[in-house]
Parts: sequence; structure tokens; C-alpha cells
Amino acid sequence: MTVRQPKSQHMGAERIDPWQVVNALPEAVLVLDSDGVIRFVNPDAQRFLAAGESMLLGHPLTDWLPADSPIFSLIRQARVEGSSMSEYGLTLETPRIGAHLVMASVAPMGDPPRLLALSIREISIARRFDTQFSHRNAARSVSAMSAMLAHEVKNPLSGIRGAAQLLEQSAGERDRELTQLICDEADRIVALVNRMEAFADSGPIDREAINIHQVLERVRRLAESGFARHVHFVERYDPSLPPVFGNRDQLVQVYLNLVKNAAEAVPANGGEIIIETGYQRGVSIAVPGTNQRTNLPLAITIRDNGPGIPEDLQEHLFDPFVTTKKNGTGLGLALVAKVIGDHGGVIECQSRPRRTIFKTWLPMHPDLETSVRPETEAA
Ligand SMILES: Nc1ncnc2c1ncn2[C@@H]1O[C@H](COP(=O)(O)OP(=O)(O)OP(=O)(O)O)[C@@H](O)[C@H]1O
Ligand SMILES: [Mg+2]
Repeated sequence: MTVRQPKSQHMGAERIDPWQVVNALPEAVLVLDSDGVIRFVNPDAQRFLAAGESMLLGHPLTDWLPADSPIFSLIRQARVEGSSMSEYGLTLETPRIGAHLVMASVAPMGDPPRLLALSIREISIARRFDTQFSHRNAARSVSAMSAMLAHEVKNPLSGIRGAAQLLEQSAGERDRELTQLICDEADRIVALVNRMEAFADSGPIDREAINIHQVLERVRRLAESGFARHVHFVERYDPSLPPVFGNRDQLVQVYLNLVKNAAEAVPANGGEIIIETGYQRGVSIAVPGTNQRTNLPLAITIRDNGPGIPEDLQEHLFDPFVTTKKNGTGLGLALVAKVIGDHGGVIECQSRPRRTIFKTWLPMHPDLETSVRPETEAA
């Protein structure tokens, strides 16, 4: 069996060669036949498997990856279901290629589908998700600390503030400036402690079926009437998106934090934030410590045209107290990661100048999972 040469397409006067497209993609692309034999590899797949085309073509993928690798269960599942499947956080490991954390997507090709296209993306996303997990520990220590702060700092502060207000009544003009300063600073510290209280562990979250578009509308309206007055918003909503299984207030906080960061990053003139929703079939993630998987078909994306996030910052983006802003606390994204994690979801960040994307995947209500849109798919 051979893979047919795809036809070229015209794009204006320019001819686009599909081979060039596949070869240019920064991810490993392979095609397997019904026996699992490799029929096509792009340069990135050769790099990933640390072998040349001539060594790979005509050989089963099991020669290159262990047969019990999770990628083969994904392949089997895609064959059985006859539709594309993706999975985050797969570990592919052999002595030859080392250990890689990847996102793998499998798509049946042809009618009837005898071939299978497989793409493997080595991921910042999974790494980030992984770091999210390790940052859960950081978040946990933040949560213990916030409980301590609430007790040891907030209570005395309200005493200090009260005393300053009492003094203010009998103070002269100049001293009143000082009592005002005490009150303002006390308020600032209380606000910070309040923000940190969001990290306190309050047990499982209350979740229900949430219309995410109402959440995003609220966020946009809050943003437009406040910190994002200078920004042009574009909404690309999939109106038939099923409800998210989530906590409304916490989700408002998540997208507000993301939109606020975006608004703070975009230029004063020509700043644009795109809010996008879509249904993405076959995306799932393993539930840590169990054999179960959660489906995460609801994708919500916040994109901005700001300068992007420096590479060295990206590693630590979701850590608490990481900030480049003069008055930033660095708690915004840490909270986003915590809430998305509490929802069993995933967050990914991709950033380059003029294109920073925070993409979240969330589960839908378990009762709806079997009944909703089994056949449609959107990016
Ligand atoms: N869309 C974005 N574009 C560019 N940089 C970003 C973006 N989002 C986050 N960052 C970077 O990540 C850092 C951490 O963001 P985070 O929201 O956690 O804290 P912060 O915005 O600095 O402070 P706070 O949220 O308390 O106001 C920011 O200081 C900024 O450098
Ligand atoms: Mg922020």
C-alpha cells in the first residue's frame, strides 16, 4: 500500500504543495497502514524516532516504540471508533529516543479508513500541565500560608485600621495624611491577603452545567468597562457548545485573569483580544492516580496581539508570585492553573510576538456526555 501524492492547491498565484506543508509542520507526522506498518514519515518524525526514512518505512511502529506504549491503545481506539482521537500527557520512552512527554493525535484516513495519520507533538503544554501539578504543591503551600495570613495579618490589620480611624478624628491636617496612609496601606495588604485566600483548600468545588458564553460575556463586559477600555474584542463563539461542568464564579475569575493579562499586554493602539470557543472531539487526559480518563471537549481560547511572553518566563508562568509588572502579585495565572486543575481541565500557553494564546479545555456535564454532538468537531 502506498500513500498517494496529494494534489497541490492554488492560493492566489502561489502553488501550495501539501508535502511541503506536512514537512514544515513542527510535529512528527506518520502514516500507518492497517497492519501498523509505517508508510510515511515527515522529517520531524524521523528526528523524533532518531531514525532515517529508509529505516522506518515498511517497518511496524512497534519496532520503534514498545507495544505496551499508551500510543497503541490510542491507535486501537481510533480504529474502533473510526474517528480522530487526541491525548495529552502521554509519555513515550525508549532507550533510543529517551523520554518525551507528548500530545498524540490519531486520525483515520480514506474511505473505508485503511490508513491512519498519527501526529506527535512534544509539548510545552503537557510540561506546563505537569508543572501545574507540581505547582499544586506550591499552591498548597500558598493555601496554608493564606490561612495563616488571614489569621495573623488580617485580624491585627483591622485593629490597626480602626485605631488609625479613631486617631484621624482628633488629628490635625498634616497628621490626617498619615492616618490616611495607614488606612490605605492596610487596605492594600488586606486586598492581597483576600486574593491569596482564593487558594485556600475548600474541598471539592460546587459544579453545575454552565453556559460558558454567559461567563465570557460577563468577563468581556467587565473588562470593557474597566481595564480593557482601549481594547478591541473579537468573539468567535460556537453557539451550539454544550454547557461546561463548572463553577460559574471561579470560571469568571479564570477568564477575567486571562483577559486582564491580555489587556495589559496589548498595545495602547490596535490592541485586540480574541475570545474563541469550540468543540474538540476526542481530547482526553488521564485522571492522576487512577485508570480513568476525563474527556475535555470544550475549548476556550483567549488570544492577544501583545508582545508575547519571554521564553525564560514561560517555564514558570503558572508559579505563584511570578510577575514582570510593577504592581503585579503574580497570583493571576497561579489561580487560573489551580481553578482549571480543580475542574479537571487543562491549560496551554503558546506565545510569540503578536500572538499569545491561552487555551483551556474543560469537561462537559457527565450527564450530557453521551447525548451531545457525537459526530461534530471543531478546532
Ligand atoms: N497575555 C500575556 N502577554 C504577555 N505576558 C503575559 C501574558 N499573560 C501573562 N504574562 C506574563 O506572566 C506574568 C504572570 O502573570 P500573572 O497574571 O500570574 O501575574 P501578574 O499579571 O503579573 O499580576 P496580577 O495578576 O496579580 O495582576 C505577568 O507578569 C506577565 O509578565
Ligand atoms: Mg495577571
